[in-house]
Amino acid sequence: MVSTARAPGKGRKSEVARYQMYIDGKFVDAAGGKTFDVYDPATEGVIATCPAGEAEDVDRAVQAAVRAFYGGWRSVSAQERGRVLFRLAERVRARRAELAELETINSGKPIVESEYDMDDTATCFEYYGGLATKINGEVLPVPADAIAMAMREPVGIAGQIIPWNYPLMMAAWKIAPALAAGCTVVLKPAEQTPLSILKLAEDFEAVGLPPGVVNVVTGDGPGAGAPLVAHPKVRKIAFTGSAEVGKLIMRSAADQLKRVSLELGGKSPNIFFSDADFENAVDGALFGTFINQGEVCSAGSRVLVQQDIYKKFVDAAAAKAKTIRLGPGVDRETKMGPLVSAEQRDRVASYLKVGRGEAKVAAGGGTPKEFDTGWYVEPTIFYDVDNGARIAQEEIFGPVMSVIPFRDEAEAIRIANESPYGLAAAVWTRDIFKAFRVVKSLEAGIVWVNHMQPTFVEAPWGGYKMSGFGRELGHWGVEEYLETKQVFINLDEKPIGWY
Ligand code: NAI
Ligand code: MG
Repeated sequence: MVSTARAPGKGRKSEVARYQMYIDGKFVDAAGGKTFDVYDPATEGVIATCPAGEAEDVDRAVQAAVRAFYGGWRSVSAQERGRVLFRLAERVRARRAELAELETINSGKPIVESEYDMDDTATCFEYYGGLATKINGEVLPVPADAIAMAMREPVGIAGQIIPWNYPLMMAAWKIAPALAAGCTVVLKPAEQTPLSILKLAEDFEAVGLPPGVVNVVTGDGPGAGAPLVAHPKVRKIAFTGSAEVGKLIMRSAADQLKRVSLELGGKSPNIFFSDADFENAVDGALFGTFINQGEVCSAGSRVLVQQDIYKKFVDAAAAKAKTIRLGPGVDRETKMGPLVSAEQRDRVASYLKVGRGEAKVAAGGGTPKEFDTGWYVEPTIFYDVDNGARIAQEEIFGPVMSVIPFRDEAEAIRIANESPYGLAAAVWTRDIFKAFRVVKSLEAGIVWVNHMQPTFVEAPWGGYKMSGFGRELGHWGVEEYLETKQVFINLDEKPIGWY
């Protein structure tokens, strides 16, 4: 079974836990017997091994999901499906400390952030537990000799592929609405961070999930993700990750006209007018970009600042950025942990090099020297950035802010929308007229006024343009897992008389 992962820590001998994946209600190895290593980004040590799932394992999981769907889950009452989700939420709350610690050890993020993630995970299960009994059809106002209805039914077997930045929370965002709708699930976590969902899977049976309703197949993208997308019995793919893989998924899904929802990256503008509360604004720029090490799809990494406060703003933001405490996520004083992988650290470091050539550095700009181990990157602020620069157009997915000056409202809106992406945006001002004008002009799926990043499970989440399509959370989230069936009931005893 699954044993607890423990961070090796300096001088301590590392204890490598052997995890198995969860298929048809059982913890199992990959059919091919292969495994891959899972790391602690703060120590760079291997903390666990996981089965390297491949097409055969995906097929086993999908067949289990098919049996579970037709064998009963789709006819389990909405009340019971809701209760299962409530019990899952209770388990997350009961195991908050343990799951948060594991999440931090595996992903690098500060423990305090992991604890909030666990709360949001539980809230998501609860929300959809409640929503399960509110998925109503409609009766339509047709002429008196008929009744027409729209019935809602589950799509069937859902394939779900998630990233490594909010591992358990992303799993909840995907699993919870699918179960509320009556779907069964094959979930593939990111190969960097598969541990927390496998830990929670220990409780699946106890909360009343029949075997096969939720399966977790571990493995990498080409090995396990691609066969899941291509599997003919999977009716819907929900994906969060890079735009590059989003395109691959859409192409592959086209062969079977499979439904797809995509939550991809962004390069979200965070707009500061000179009438904004200055202290809040500086905090908001840092929080918007640096939370979770900047590994956030909605990171406000393009900071647009009005000219008359621009210099003062850059100086204040840089001074504060230099005080951000880096360290292992398990340390409660840590405000920024290491990035998730050596690969991600290298990707971000390569953008730091690009940025040094494209703009000026106000803070950071490299990898810190004070750590012997850990995939750290300095919180970095580039300024005098041209919006056409690569560091203003491409998603970096690390603690890197690009500050761009603007003159007036029209220019701010124009720069903000000059991006292939459209996930999120924020506007800071004390002028309510201006705030709402800007809100209406921005091409983004989520817009904050005088804040950036917090979100509610009740509210829709998703992007415009190349940030994808479909919406998660709220009642929109469950729509992605529902079919609509028109039912026509004839009340006319001689209805046809045509021939
Ligand atoms: P990725 O998009 O390659 O990985 C995300 C998930 O997709 C993982 O579970 C991965 O195994 C899976 N995957 C990869 N290739 C696949 C394929 N061919 N078929 C099916 N599934 C596949 O992201 P990666 O490589 O970890 O990070 C690269 C960049 O992507 C980041 O620097 C960032 O810009 C962006 N990203 C955006 C995220 C978001 O929340 N929107 C999350 C993670 C990454
Ligand atoms: Mg990738």
